[in-house]
Amino acid sequence: MSLAEASTCVELRAATPLLPVVGSDLPVPLVTGESQRFVHLDYAASAPALASVVEAVERHLPWYSSVHRGAGFTSAISSEALAAARHTIRGFVGGRTDDVVVFTRNTTDALNLLASVIPDDTTVLTLDIEHHANLLPWRRATVHHLPTPRRIDEIAGVFATALAGVRTTHTLISVTGATNVTGEVLPIADIVAVARRFGARVAVDAAQLAPHRSIDISALGVDYVVFSGHKLYAPFGTGVLVGRADWLDQAEPYLAGGGAVGTVSVDSAEWLPSPARHEGGTPNVLGAVAIAAACRALSEAGADAVEAHDHALSSHLEARLHELDGVEPVSVFGEGSDRIGIVTLRLPRPAAEVAAALSAEHGIGTRDGAFCAHPLMRRLFGRPADGSVPNALRVSFGVGSTLADLDHFVESLAAVLRDGPRWTYAIERNRLVPSPDPRPRPSL
Ligand code: ALA
Repeated sequence: MSLAEASTCVELRAATPLLPVVGSDLPVPLVTGESQRFVHLDYAASAPALASVVEAVERHLPWYSSVHRGAGFTSAISSEALAAARHTIRGFVGGRTDDVVVFTRNTTDALNLLASVIPDDTTVLTLDIEHHANLLPWRRATVHHLPTPRRIDEIAGVFATALAGVRTTHTLISVTGATNVTGEVLPIADIVAVARRFGARVAVDAAQLAPHRSIDISALGVDYVVFSGHKLYAPFGTGVLVGRADWLDQAEPYLAGGGAVGTVSVDSAEWLPSPARHEGGTPNVLGAVAIAAACRALSEAGADAVEAHDHALSSHLEARLHELDGVEPVSVFGEGSDRIGIVTLRLPRPAAEVAAALSAEHGIGTRDGAFCAHPLMRRLFGRPADGSVPNALRVSFGVGSTLADLDHFVESLAAVLRDGPRWTYAIERNRLVPSPDPRPRPSL
């Protein structure tokens, strides 16, 4: 295939969703009284459900029952579905046969679980560009948040220098696979190579990476990976930690309770090995069915197709943003860095005002704020480390997005920047919202 044919092929692919998502033709009311097909550009916060995920959940519902507890046939089916979901998820991330898959609520929960099982004598190294979920849980350990270099090829060297100074028995590098602010992809293979030289382990926060790229933890030599269902087109309340069993099996249970134990007396308990050890209480079977269905759907679509769709959308958006004066994507590593479908913009008007107008007047869902990444946002906007937190506009997309969604965004953004909002807005509960807001609510 020639280059021209290949690029037409990619453009054609991004002209329609790569996979069907629920709500892709949802009309939303505008403050002006009209309605507009909702354009969802906030996938990085919570992606819409894949149609196939909802079908999988609906197929399972009649068979839903308690797992590992009930004697009924539906309990057997639900228990088998939970085990099958672990198997699918392990395969999706290229897990080793002895890697454990622990179900959690989301990525934050999975990282808190990992933070709770690291041995006492462990140093944790992260970068200062992490989401709060990969900054805050480590405060219980010896932790160093390393300054991220401006050149991506210097990251491995930053870790090497830090690792050379570590004096504890164990070291864990916990690093994002792709930042939730700029979408830039981190060089995980290089980081693992350095970690191995120093006997350190590596955990990857793949909350943003997993919906966009394939991850093969055994090929990469990654020890742990975490991600969330709600960003992976499976918003049914489940996340996962996948990785080495030993620390998990030696630690106190993260969620002590029924299901995590063998025998119990009033003052002692015989804790089971992981994953049960950390999953006390009734597990979220439908969440597990959902996230496994999403893994299957993405695998069947093919990682290359997902990446090509993502690239077609990103390049189209980048090209069209050049039409707008004063609008600039922010970046940690500068031009040419590898990115997934997330773009945060520096704007000539307040981001909160623009986001509110895009929603109320144009039917577009973006996110404004600091994206739970305050240290990174201060750095990107040139604020001191203890300075105020900037506010910016983020657009993010995925397998349900199309070129037309991005065109509608760019044209609406141009109108808001040129003419200003056409409605009045007021701050309510820290958000700028239409005031008055005449949009009828659906009766749900
Ligand atoms: N972590 C999510 C985001 O980046 C909520 O928007």
